Amino acid sequence: MQKGPIGVFDSGFGGLTILDAFIQELPDKQFYYLGDNARAPYGSRSFEVIHQYTLEALNFLFTAGCPLVILACNTASAKALRTIQQRDIPKYWPKRNVLGVIRPTTEQIGLWTKTRRVGILGTSGTVKSDSYKIEIEKFFPDITVYQQACPMLVPLIENQETHSKAMQLFIKQYTDALFQFDANIDTVVLACTHYPLIESQIIQQIGARARVISQGILVAKALKAYLQRHLETDALCNKDLYHRYFTTEDKELFNSMASYFLNRKVQGEHVQLNSNFH
Ligand code: DGL
Repeated sequence: MQKGPIGVFDSGFGGLTILDAFIQELPDKQFYYLGDNARAPYGSRSFEVIHQYTLEALNFLFTAGCPLVILACNTASAKALRTIQQRDIPKYWPKRNVLGVIRPTTEQIGLWTKTRRVGILGTSGTVKSDSYKIEIEKFFPDITVYQQACPMLVPLIENQETHSKAMQLFIKQYTDALFQFDANIDTVVLACTHYPLIESQIIQQIGARARVISQGILVAKALKAYLQRHLETDALCNKDLYHRYFTTEDKELFNSMASYFLNRKVQGEHVQLNSNFH
């Protein structure tokens, strides 16, 4: 198999927060980013739809030459990753691999909480899947997990409403609801890759009540460790500093928003995913 870039996939702009951490932690690796912005948000969609959209994204990134793809999306990781790893990868792409963002986050959560009460903020899909609860229980059975779905946050972020009054209102509503479950929560996980884009507003609302954990650096360190353990996969990853950004939306729209979120110029390329793939 030929060498290729590492693929990073999200429904929209959120995965850029993970990509940023990858570039910092693995500065010699090449990455291809794909945002399915035209169909974002995924958060409230059914298993079938998220699975199909994720398959189409994987088909694009694997065809573009990626030996490994990271689902930089909690919703896709929660809903589709297991089926994809167990059924679709062996069937369609037996030589390639796909990883998610939930496990690298949950396996470290025990390090931060003293009260052993952890809050999860995520999309409706992530919360309904109970993936965080199940995974944290595996590693730390003494931790109680409380989850709050925040269905309005991703649509507001995708529409560049990061600093609007509406955003403030919804962050307050969701964080207050989380602490109503248990005032002793001392650690809150931003379990959606979009939320680091509004991290300062969330921290402001939560105040001294809890520490807020973003996934980027955790996932990046886990990927680095994975590549150190899997030298055969590492050998397939291109060393090149030229990253590419693909979007299913209009590329100018993507460029202006991605550049705004990343604080640097991004040149996106428009792509059409093969919706007949299944
Ligand atoms: N960034 C995705 C996640 O981590 C957002 C999901 C959505 O599109 O609603 O869950």
